[in-house]
Amino acid sequence: MDASTRAGAPPSKARRLRDGLGFFGSFLKNPGSIGAVLPSSVYLSRALIGRLDLQPGELVVEFGPGTGPVTAVARDLLPKGARYLGIELEPRFHQLLTKRFPEMDFHLGSAAKVTDILAERKLPRPTRILSGLPFATLPPGVQDEVIDGIVACLRGTHGDFRTFQYVHAFGMKAARRFRAMMAERFDSFERIGPVVRNVPPAFVLRYWGAK
Ligand SMILES: C[S@@+](CC[C@H](N)C(=O)[O-])C[C@H]1O[C@@H](n2cnc3c(N)ncnc32)[C@H](O)[C@@H]1O
Repeated sequence: MDASTRAGAPPSKARRLRDGLGFFGSFLKNPGSIGAVLPSSVYLSRALIGRLDLQPGELVVEFGPGTGPVTAVARDLLPKGARYLGIELEPRFHQLLTKRFPEMDFHLGSAAKVTDILAERKLPRPTRILSGLPFATLPPGVQDEVIDGIVACLRGTHGDFRTFQYVHAFGMKAARRFRAMMAERFDSFERIGPVVRNVPPAFVLRYWGAK
């Protein structure tokens, strides 16, 4: 078993229930920006991250960490000296993340502003961008801004971008639009899964070679 399959012990049942209820409540208030009824499972989180493969000094950025299932796996795989920044729009989740992961950094704001946020915090360009953003339900203008930000971060580097799309939403117009735009902006792409041990099942998408 390699490090990527061991990382991120599954959270306790009580925590999953608490997070699930809180997450569902946020979904009811903001269905478009939350985009899911439950947090990702540890299986989807591990598949999304794969092998983090970061060197000391390198940065991983996570878009939309929510209640932190992907963050927990990333923390376990982060080598000494490597850095992490989560960018979360929802104040309630941002507050929960800063309490739950006091050793990690979180920015309250939109991933669409990633280049400004990194510049403000004097951070280097990221080697990995992990995204939980619900691209299938984000307004097209926000989708475009986020994609421009991803490309600006990764162009001319060996870095990559990883996200997931739910199987049931894979054919939706906004999901197809996102993949078509990413295909134009990246040289290489791989699809992993579906990961069935998640509610709902999801594909992981990885893009590298930003143009
Ligand atoms: C589908 S949930 C995923 C949460 C978590 N990553 C997971 O896998 O369980 C989407 C998350 O993206 C956040 N979000 C939505 N739009 C955002 C934006 N423009 N910038 C940053 N976070 C955003 C939501 O608040 C929510 O936490």
